[in-house]
Amino acid sequence: MSPEYENEKKRFTERYLGRNAKEQGRRTEEIRMSPLCSLAVAHKASRSILPQYGLLGFHAGQSDDISDEEPILLNINAPNSTFICGSQGSGKSYTLSAILEDCLKKDASLNELKEPLAGVVFHYDNDSHTVAEAAHLCSLGIKVRVLVSKSSAATNLKQRYLDMPGVAKNLTVDNFVLQDRHLNVERMLKMMAFDEQDEKVPLYMVVIQRILRDTAINGQRFSFKKFLKDLKQEKFSPGQEAMMDMRLNLLQSFMPQTATEQGKDLFKTTPGTLTIVDFSDPLIDSSSACVLFDTCLALFKENRPKSGLVVALDEAHKFLNKGAAAANFTERLLQTIREQRHNATRVIIATQEPTISEKLLDLCSTSIVHRFTSPAWFNSIKDHLGGVSSLVAEAGDRNEIFGRIVDLNVGESLVFSPSSFVGLDGLEKPKKLGSGILRMKTRLREGVDGGRSVMAAGAGAGEGKEDEE
Ligand SMILES: Nc1ncnc2c1ncn2[C@@H]1O[C@H](COP(=O)(O)OP(=O)(O)OP(=O)(O)O)[C@@H](O)[C@H]1O
Ligand SMILES: [Mg+2]
Repeated sequence: MSPEYENEKKRFTERYLGRNAKEQGRRTEEIRMSPLCSLAVAHKASRSILPQYGLLGFHAGQSDDISDEEPILLNINAPNSTFICGSQGSGKSYTLSAILEDCLKKDASLNELKEPLAGVVFHYDNDSHTVAEAAHLCSLGIKVRVLVSKSSAATNLKQRYLDMPGVAKNLTVDNFVLQDRHLNVERMLKMMAFDEQDEKVPLYMVVIQRILRDTAINGQRFSFKKFLKDLKQEKFSPGQEAMMDMRLNLLQSFMPQTATEQGKDLFKTTPGTLTIVDFSDPLIDSSSACVLFDTCLALFKENRPKSGLVVALDEAHKFLNKGAAAANFTERLLQTIREQRHNATRVIIATQEPTISEKLLDLCSTSIVHRFTSPAWFNSIKDHLGGVSSLVAEAGDRNEIFGRIVDLNVGESLVFSPSSFVGLDGLEKPKKLGSGILRMKTRLREGVDGGRSVMAAGAGAGEGKEDEE
């Protein structure tokens, strides 16, 4: 090449390639955003890079880069999202609660936290009549507020929360109430269109769309009373009217009935507190629950505190199923994850069925895989673990990895998190996990363990029988 070429290349690379100082800066930035990091990496980095973290677990495998029983820390400062899966009793809820403990409570022995986040848990379980396990965080002194539907009184949901051990003054149960200002055209359309089969949009939606469009065109704020009045003036066939009334009645049950309810804004959250929205109720099907969660997520995000928000779904397979409402809610979660750096909201999803959404697996920066034994599940998720397609293919033999998942003990997991710095290389420089796999044992929890199995003979009994009380 000509000397002119060499000169020009030199000028470009020196000025714009940023090989030296900028390379250093990029690495620092990567560690700052690292979802997990080891204690060794945290000690190599300066405090200003990792100002807020909490202990999540310990290295439980063998590696040249990570010491035995190396503490693994969760970066609480940078918003990151986590997917947790595994079969029954494998330790998902326990890991989820450990993350929530880290994020919600300052505890010098456990975490480094300037200001706690606010927590929101979405729960829906019409099968087992259990309360959301995260509610047990009240035993740690974290203020827990549970929001339930009024009609859940039929299954004593409120009382089941109040009967938990360690509730004292740290747990309250409120009726879920929406105000006019929480509803807009988009939310009303979703709420009125939800359909158990989710197959077709009901005919009455044409009229509802017209009423809502007119309200928007006239620049009026949405009023549920006026909406009902406008609907009364329309004619519907009896079949249509019955379907519409089903949805209207449900929505109406969430509108304020008393003066006290009128003034309530349930979506304002405070740092260091946990809000559980529990729609377990035989009168609410899973697609209605998804539509309601979708609206709640938008409202919680709008009202989040400055320190940020952590949104968690435990037992997500119970409501994130195949319907249109579940797809809409999944899309809202995906959007939240995509924008997590801007909206300071982290999403954690725990599910028995890892197949609920490949997109969620792809977007979450960390996948924590507890023990499961279904080869079919493994085959359908293997290319989506840790947010990097074909990661497993690079990391090693697929059958070998499946074997390692099957062999995990309770509380242990294989962690896929390509952008996490959990090791040190031969020069003691922080090293990214990349296509590697971290075997981790979740740390012991601080609060009451609400997930212990209920044994026939009463030993190790679950709810209401904790000996830590
Ligand atoms: N890291 C751990 N250390 C100690 N005990 C643990 C750990 N993880 C789980 N356990 C024990 O195992 C029990 C079951 O765990 P967990 O409730 O998290 O299971 P799960 O995967 O959520 O199951 P399910 O799908 O049935 O809800 C816990 O209540 C706890 O007693
Ligand atoms: Mg669980």
